[in-house]
Amino acid sequence: MKKAQIIVDKYFLTGKTDKRIYGSFIEHLGRAVYEGIYQEGSPLSDEQGFRKDTLELVRELQVPIVRYPGGNFVSGFRWEDSVGPKAQRPSRPELAWGVIETNQFGLNEFVDWSRKADSDVMMAVNLGTRGPEDAKNLLEYCNFKGGTYYSDLRKAHGYEQPHDIKLWCLGNEMDGPWQMGHKTAAEYGRVAAETARLMKFMDPEVETVACGSSNLEMPTFGSWEYTVLDEAYDQVDYLSLHQYYGNAAGDTADFLASSKGMDDFISGVVSICDAVKAKKHGKKQINLSFDEWNVWYHSNEQDKKLEKWVQAPHQLEDVYNFEDALLVGSMLITLLRHADRVKIACMAQLVNVIAPIMTSDTGAWRQTIFYPYMLTSVFGRGTVLNTQVLTPIYESKTYGEAPYLDSVCVWDEEKDTLTIFAVNKSMDEDMEVSCDLRQFEGYKIVEHIVLNNDNLQAVNTETQPENVVPVKASAECSKLDGGKLEAVFAKHSWNMIRLAK
Ligand code: AHR
Repeated sequence: MKKAQIIVDKYFLTGKTDKRIYGSFIEHLGRAVYEGIYQEGSPLSDEQGFRKDTLELVRELQVPIVRYPGGNFVSGFRWEDSVGPKAQRPSRPELAWGVIETNQFGLNEFVDWSRKADSDVMMAVNLGTRGPEDAKNLLEYCNFKGGTYYSDLRKAHGYEQPHDIKLWCLGNEMDGPWQMGHKTAAEYGRVAAETARLMKFMDPEVETVACGSSNLEMPTFGSWEYTVLDEAYDQVDYLSLHQYYGNAAGDTADFLASSKGMDDFISGVVSICDAVKAKKHGKKQINLSFDEWNVWYHSNEQDKKLEKWVQAPHQLEDVYNFEDALLVGSMLITLLRHADRVKIACMAQLVNVIAPIMTSDTGAWRQTIFYPYMLTSVFGRGTVLNTQVLTPIYESKTYGEAPYLDSVCVWDEEKDTLTIFAVNKSMDEDMEVSCDLRQFEGYKIVEHIVLNNDNLQAVNTETQPENVVPVKASAECSKLDGGKLEAVFAKHSWNMIRLAK
């Protein structure tokens, strides 16, 4: 049995969780929109064509914000094509993913869908094939109250009230050669700054997110962030990070160490933001928007065979297994541990496309990764305690020394609840973990939930949707005696212990 210790102090705080770290992402890609959230004529859809079964699962996840409409898609997006009478909307070749986009679902439908999903919109503007002028027009359409060309057009489309979208991405992955209209850091920094400036003239309440690197392996990583912020520091509020992990090599220990990679990535980008701030004698802090993160590799091979110029193909449809859920749990812990700087994060994506929710013509089901996402989103709100983890470590191939135990504690002082999230990454040993909670007088264990499976490759499917589901741990797995918590985290398991007064 391995042994570890979690140390917290109610006066040592990392920061309040911003609920937007539990955001997600819907791109016009594959079956995310069509057949995922929208399927006109399906008996499973409502009067607007929104899939009711999907909406129910999205609400279960308590997703506070959804990024839209891309992704790579946004870099060719002509937003005007996506509004107004559906019969008049054009179909267009969509160059990012090599498909046909019919525009039968667009901006206004997404706003309506988000309301039904109890979520806010994080909208992206096209800085690939377009620029500041179109971003300004789009914002006028969305947020201006009326009496101008684009705000009156919105009203003519049946939306009397402004959409009031307050969070805007300035393009997507503009450092990537795969991106339509990709740019050098200096080119992008200028256009991002000017776009944000116009947008803030129009609506001073909007917040803007500049593109950071598409991933940590980009050859321009570091200098990209620095140059973009050097140009756009005054105009932007957040810098984005994107990262996907995979286990193509079949090395689970290395795969699970990816959360260490994510942790280092976040720390590195924080340092660059602060370096630019210091250089500029700036007052404002640039925070982070980790607006694409997940596991993505299962569908790579099958996607190479896809036919081009079809509508809504099965694309990026990763079927997630149990070990993916462990890493997703660890990635959420990592985001929480950086709650002081990571204010927005989007699991990419939400439905069908590298997603926690899958749909078919006959129903919707929860993938393995749904569970750590849902339980962390629901119970991981409050203040993150600066959680020290004394854990045995192992040597991973890609990330060097990695902890066997990932953990974080979230305290909600008003509701008097304390929640411990933990992943034991050991493949062959349970872990005995102690935590001194005497400062939290009167707290009692409410429940200890575990996600585990003997088969790391176990998946949930439409016909077998409950192969991997969380269960209550037996009472011996967590005991609180005299304010001292003693818990056992089973080998390769995700755990949540909830305490309350
Ligand atoms: O989420 C899938 C794709 O991954 C997005 O379109 C792009 O931004 C990233 O490369």
